[in-house]
Amino acid sequence: MDAYFVETLVDEDDALVEARESGRLTTMPQAEVAPNQGKLLSLLVRMVGATRVLEFGTLAGYSTVWLARAVGEGGQVTTLELEQQNATVAEKNLERAGVLDRVQIMVGRAAESAQRLIDAETQPYDFVFIDADKPSNPAYLEASLQLSRPGTVIVIDNVVRNGAVIDASSTDDRVQGVRSVLEKIAKDGRLDATSLQTVGSKGWDGFTILRRAR
Ligand code: DHB
Ligand code: MG
Repeated sequence: MDAYFVETLVDEDDALVEARESGRLTTMPQAEVAPNQGKLLSLLVRMVGATRVLEFGTLAGYSTVWLARAVGEGGQVTTLELEQQNATVAEKNLERAGVLDRVQIMVGRAAESAQRLIDAETQPYDFVFIDADKPSNPAYLEASLQLSRPGTVIVIDNVVRNGAVIDASSTDDRVQGVRSVLEKIAKDGRLDATSLQTVGSKGWDGFTILRRAR
């Protein structure tokens, strides 16, 4: 079904195909979003009218290309990546896609990069995509909220993990990272959220989508 939807509805050009395939050159091959998921991110950014986007987890920059194209010429994407190796791959992909000038890649621990943005009193972001190491999800949400405004939309990837996330006693810190962030969202009166499961070329997984109301 994903192949059919992508063939029918998702306009991946050579730069996107190359970015997706170059995932193999990163420290985490195959972790990038599927083409129809990248298109979903792009649609959400446009629906929100976002011009300032923050991304946790760049890898090869596949989702970054979708986000950067969606913000348009006057827009800006800040993407946080731990590994220089991945940032180098991403930079080439962003250049090929014609959007490198509107993307800032910050290399290093994403929590520290985000703290630098907070310390610099960076203008709030309109849209945030959290898709990096899962144990840090609660920290990334906290940082995102400090870098947001009422109306900011946040999307978190990989909140299902083949159903593993239902296991409250899991010893997998990635599972606990997802569970903790969901509990944090539920307790935060400023946030409206829902989660959706996805099935497709990336297996069985899901997204959480939230909006900061105030
Ligand atoms: C993993 C991380 C991702 O962001 C993803 O989309 C798929 C898998 C992982 O940590 O295994
Ligand atoms: Mg992911």
